[in-house]
Amino acid sequence: MTSGLGAVLRAKGYPGGMDLSNWEILASHVAPQGEGVVVCVANQKGGVGKTTTCVNLAAGLALAGHAVAVVDLDPQANATTGLGIDHRTVERSSYNLIVGSASMEEVAVTTSVPGLTCVPSSLDLAGAEIELVAAMEREHRLAESLAGASERYRIVLLDCPPSLGLLTVNALVAARDVLVPVQCEFYALEAVARLLGSAERVRAALNPELRIGGVVLTMYDARTRLAEQVALEVRGHFGDLVYDTVVPRSVRLSEAPSFGEPVVTLDPGSRGSQAYRALALEVVQRYGLVRPPTRLPAPPGGRGYGTRAPEPDGVEEAWPRVEPWHPRPEEGAPAPPEEEHAAGGPER
Ligand SMILES: Nc1ncnc2c1ncn2[C@@H]1O[C@H](COP(=O)(O)OP(=O)(O)OP(=O)(O)O)[C@@H](O)[C@H]1O
Ligand SMILES: [Mg+2]
Repeated sequence: MTSGLGAVLRAKGYPGGMDLSNWEILASHVAPQGEGVVVCVANQKGGVGKTTTCVNLAAGLALAGHAVAVVDLDPQANATTGLGIDHRTVERSSYNLIVGSASMEEVAVTTSVPGLTCVPSSLDLAGAEIELVAAMEREHRLAESLAGASERYRIVLLDCPPSLGLLTVNALVAARDVLVPVQCEFYALEAVARLLGSAERVRAALNPELRIGGVVLTMYDARTRLAEQVALEVRGHFGDLVYDTVVPRSVRLSEAPSFGEPVVTLDPGSRGSQAYRALALEVVQRYGLVRPPTRLPAPPGGRGYGTRAPEPDGVEEAWPRVEPWHPRPEEGAPAPPEEEHAAGGPER
């Protein structure tokens, strides 16, 4: 039925399929604990599920207790709308990050999902690519603006427009990983080859740290053989890079943006929600994300004797057990009596 991903890639100049030997692969290089990571969600093909993945994966991660930010880099502002923000009314946006006129804290706005922050897009962004053409270091603008973000957010997801223009290049330079949504249909496969080709050029020239963070199969329609074949071929080529979770085609996923809410909170029981929550769990595992301990505010005056109780797993360190329990006998003093059970007595 399909002529095969291998054939497509060969036709595009990738003999023997995609050569991934130069790439650092996230699967084997997780981020050190506590370090935030910037992930660029990119595919220059339109309508493959970049924004849906960004919004719902971010919400899934936030619900799992992680501090997450979505940066909408698409002038279409779909991620902004999908998170319930009216892009026509925002004063500052990702445009300001790109031109360097505001910091992440100044542009980030809270969303209805606890722990999830969004840097909205605005109409100005449409002109940013033209404005940047003559700018110095124009590919590094976003990276500079996001430099401190990894201290504040465990994951920053960059939602890219469907092009390989300067906005996507800025995202690839700012990111540690590129996550590629692949729609389960034939032409989507060519797009992956082209995207990874461009990402490889960015990696070689501008961001040697860039890794392939993974491939997500989206809009899987179990009724068609093509979807199954595409999924098999993508797995055959990209192996462990492909997340186990497959996002099904689901009407609820396509309706959710009109409610300005991710499907994971709008309709938690829906298939789309379950898929994105499963994907979020896989991302947590792949990145070794540790949920920050919930810190209760100290009651006034502290607890008990004015000391703040340590966290449960820090008790040993905060209050080390004194060994041996009995005070050391003075030199020449008689030894303390043996414990009952140590002498064969009944255990208590
Ligand atoms: N799993 C899915 N099931 C059904 N509809 C979906 C699914 N994923 C995305 N859609 C719908 O498909 C359309 C395109 O999805 P989305 O906007 O996420 O793609 P995109 O790659 O961000 O598009 P663009 O390239 O235009 O930015 C949207 O209308 C979205 O609601
Ligand atoms: Mg989009």
